[in-house]
Amino acid sequence: MSNLSNLSNVSNESMNVWNGAGRRIFMQEVGTRDGLQVEAAFVPTEDKIALVNALSRAGMAKIEVTAFVSPQAIPALRDAEQVLREIERAPGVVYSALVPNVRGAERAIDARADELNLVMSASESHNLANLRMTREQSFRALSAVNAIARGAQGAVNVSLSCSFGCPMEGDVAEDVVLGWCARYVEELGARGVTLCDTTGMAFPSQVERLVRAFRARWPGTELTLHFHNTRGMGLANVLAAIAAGADRFDASLGGIGGCPYAPGATGNVCSEEIVHALELMGYDTGVDLARLIEAAARLPALINHGIPSQIVAAGRRLDLHKPPADFDAIRERALAKG
Ligand code: COA
Ligand code: ZN
Repeated sequence: MSNLSNLSNVSNESMNVWNGAGRRIFMQEVGTRDGLQVEAAFVPTEDKIALVNALSRAGMAKIEVTAFVSPQAIPALRDAEQVLREIERAPGVVYSALVPNVRGAERAIDARADELNLVMSASESHNLANLRMTREQSFRALSAVNAIARGAQGAVNVSLSCSFGCPMEGDVAEDVVLGWCARYVEELGARGVTLCDTTGMAFPSQVERLVRAFRARWPGTELTLHFHNTRGMGLANVLAAIAAGADRFDASLGGIGGCPYAPGATGNVCSEEIVHALELMGYDTGVDLARLIEAAARLPALINHGIPSQIVAAGRRLDLHKPPADFDAIRERALAKG
């Protein structure tokens, strides 16, 4: 009974994290953007389109299809227009695209993106390294992008990189992160905010605090958590965020991905690993896991190397294995010993 006192500041909601009880969790695929942007091999356009179609059929709630960035900066996504125009659009799935500036917004709207994902960093150094602007300059630029998106009836989500720490600066104060959220939610009226753990610095108790603070201030705003599994804390962070009331997660097929401007950065949390774990715990992800695994298994041939996915490697928990060939003989010998 003595640990009861330790639980006194934990709400009922957080105690229920182990029992999903059919609660809906929205899975948002970022593999074709965050994943492919760092790949050396150019994945042919028709393969990208087939991948997005497979993800739609697997039941992802949202797919970040591509990025409308400078093709010199990210050559892997230079076919953004064609991919977004030629994918099949499944009813109910939101097709989003990352957009860094006005030029990107115009291209994305032209190619019929449902949602523009605007990106800036909560840390000044990472924003300069990644986007070549100060954060204030980014905010001004993204205000203009927001105005264009609104004019075209497009929804806007803002992704805040390095919300849980910056590889150059270290910790980013919670007030700083929430301050930028406030400007996007309250001044610009963004539909959603994504708190990104760009380089895998987040840890569960920090995640729980920040998600709680966000949810308390903006209960009506769509909140997404974007974790990278760089230090092995991805699934723990997802569960901590759920405990604090989050229900939307970015993840990448096969666990591929990483930021090109963050040394040592590795992939996002792996879509099939997260779906596998959450479904076992009784959450409703709306995802057909078998289809997702099938799509992930096709990745190594497309990117010319292996993928981090432990589910592709090991199979699902109840994908059983045949006993050894001499199993009957083993049993007989064991029984003969009495
Ligand atoms: N789409 C296509 N081309 C673009 C573009 C866009 N959205 N934005 C800029 N460009 C082109 C410009 O036309 C220019 O081309 P040119 O040299 O042939 O004239 C070139 O890119 C540089 O443009 P400039 O406005 O000077 O931007 P910059 O050099 O300061 O770069 C970014 C700023 C952010 C647009 C660019 O660095 C970029 O796209 N980076 C990718 C960031 C990213 O995706 N990071 C990972 C995800 S977080
Ligand atoms: Zn990322």
